[in-house]
Amino acid sequence: MHILVTGGLGFIGSNFIRLMLDSGYSVTNLDNLSYGSSIDSLRGVEPNPKYRLFRGDICDAPLVEGLVKEVSCIVNFAAQTHVDRSISDPMSFYRTNVGGVVTLLEAVRKSGRDVRLVQIGTDESYGDTAKGSFREADRLSPSSPYSASKASADLYALSYRRTYGIDAVVTRCTNNFGPFQSPEKLIPKTIIRAEKGLKVPVYGTGSNVRDWIYVEDHCRAVKAVMESGSPGEIYNISAESELDNLTVIRKVLRMMSLPETLIEFVEDRPGHDVRYSLDSGKLRADLGWRPLHSFDDALSSTVGWYLGNEWWWGPLADERTLSPAPWKLKW
Ligand SMILES: NC(=O)c1ccc[n+]([C@@H]2O[C@H](COP(=O)([O-])OP(=O)(O)OC[C@H]3O[C@@H](n4cnc5c(N)ncnc54)[C@H](O)[C@@H]3O)[C@@H](O)[C@H]2O)c1
Repeated sequence: MHILVTGGLGFIGSNFIRLMLDSGYSVTNLDNLSYGSSIDSLRGVEPNPKYRLFRGDICDAPLVEGLVKEVSCIVNFAAQTHVDRSISDPMSFYRTNVGGVVTLLEAVRKSGRDVRLVQIGTDESYGDTAKGSFREADRLSPSSPYSASKASADLYALSYRRTYGIDAVVTRCTNNFGPFQSPEKLIPKTIIRAEKGLKVPVYGTGSNVRDWIYVEDHCRAVKAVMESGSPGEIYNISAESELDNLTVIRKVLRMMSLPETLIEFVEDRPGHDVRYSLDSGKLRADLGWRPLHSFDDALSSTVGWYLGNEWWWGPLADERTLSPAPWKLKW
């Protein structure tokens, strides 16, 4: 089976492409190499005859229409993804995260072919909650330009199911961590700054709670939805592993045998969501998925991966990327 993976040079997309090639799929990867991506994330994969890379934009309708003719499924990871950047540059998020998804849906519709679109969404579309866990039918209440654009994309995908009968299915996942994640994100930034002997920033009091999942578990869930999910459905993906940011940072420092005096509390990000939490009971019951990695084991192997793979993150980890207050920068 031949699939189109968009955003496959990013963090989750590159991990997903490895999983799919190992599972026998043929993969075309469409990525415009914007921030968050690295050509090195799929180093070693290029010679595989079942893999092909197109450098291009999901908003490029003629390009996308051509590619859709060749595949039976699209898995759309392509997005502008960094919340901090969405605060200083919201229009680019609107363009890719909404316009790009409508371009993909239009290409499927115009093709007249039976092509499944798996739209990769986020828990951030539900907004935050002090207690309880969101289920798929809950109200969307995004807080940032990033999450608002992702919520809109989900709604477009579901509307194309209802109006045109397109085989669209939506996933919403919690915070990922693991190999090949941009140094701009919490866990890599903590490891890299600590390794360099720099202060490790914590937004506000560090009490914001995230529901963490190892990237391999997320990719296995997306594969299950792609293969067996029902059209027009939404599937929450969560390992149900909630931790506040300060606890995560302390664990990383302990694993690196470094002191907590490296921690520095900095000004909080505007609109910072307090707690995310998802109920993934539907995915577990309907598709038999469950996470295979505990948070601590996966965190330990992630710390080990970053310490052993500076060749990958080194070129990406400049002063701006590692900034303690990225939302204040002009991107
Ligand atoms: N990282 C998380 O914790 C998380 C959690 C839930 C959902 N998600 C979703 O998963 C998807 C992937 O996230 P990620 O963390 O791997 O992001 P990432 O930023 O690492 O990767 C995004 C990729 O999309 C590509 N891209 C961006 N705009 C494009 C365009 N217009 N055309 C073609 N390619 C484009 C980038 O070059 C990059 O390779 C996103 O849709 C994100 O919203 C991420």
